[in-house]
Amino acid sequence: MDESTKNSLIKLARFFDARQVGDVGPLGFRRSTNLTALLACAERLMAENIISPGRSTFMDLGCADGRVNLFFSYLMRISVGVELDEWTLDEYGPLRGELLEALEATGMAPPNKNVHLFHGDATDDAVHNRIIHETGLGLADFDFFYTYLVMHEEFAQMLVEKAKKGAVYMVYGLHKIMPRYPGFRLLEEFSPMEGVLALYEKT
Ligand SMILES: C[S@@+](CC[C@H](N)C(=O)[O-])C[C@H]1O[C@@H](n2cnc3c(N)ncnc32)[C@H](O)[C@@H]1O
Repeated sequence: MDESTKNSLIKLARFFDARQVGDVGPLGFRRSTNLTALLACAERLMAENIISPGRSTFMDLGCADGRVNLFFSYLMRISVGVELDEWTLDEYGPLRGELLEALEATGMAPPNKNVHLFHGDATDDAVHNRIIHETGLGLADFDFFYTYLVMHEEFAQMLVEKAKKGAVYMVYGLHKIMPRYPGFRLLEEFSPMEGVLALYEKT
């Protein structure tokens, strides 16, 4: 990862990690990824040539305020997210605005304009059709899928039908016990990355 991208990602991770959601209080269902931990995972994924910078395609299933999408916008060709709760998705714009100001103030590169977020159920064919319409990509065109545990089994069931062979399913929030999903192979050599992220390859 080049120095400029890394510096921006460190700044972005600090920005969002200071605004983590759901660790305390009633919003546990929408806990947010720790982006500092994700940065360490992303560096390893790039070093292992699993992520091809600027070429890979990414989708966050249950993207909440889109923070993981902004993070991966620096590393992927396109960064798509789907979120069921509109009020959660509505936080994306203001947070992105504040982040841009913080990055600009320190002369750092902004996120790429390749983020596309959609309101709806990530398992709904109508949502998939909207994604195709806006981005030209169907589920079978994505290289990486990401989710933060909540619906990991339901999403795995959907991906086993719709994702391409070789697509990587990243499940955040796991620790030592990593579930198995029919149609996916756990990448044991990498999992759990940073003690939290399990990687599965579609067979
Ligand atoms: C734990 S949060 C994770 C947010 C974000 N991906 C992150 O890692 O910071 C899970 C999100 O998934 C959303 N969600 C749950 N079921 C969903 C579904 N079927 N389709 C889309 N979003 C869903 C929830 O509303 C919640 O915002």
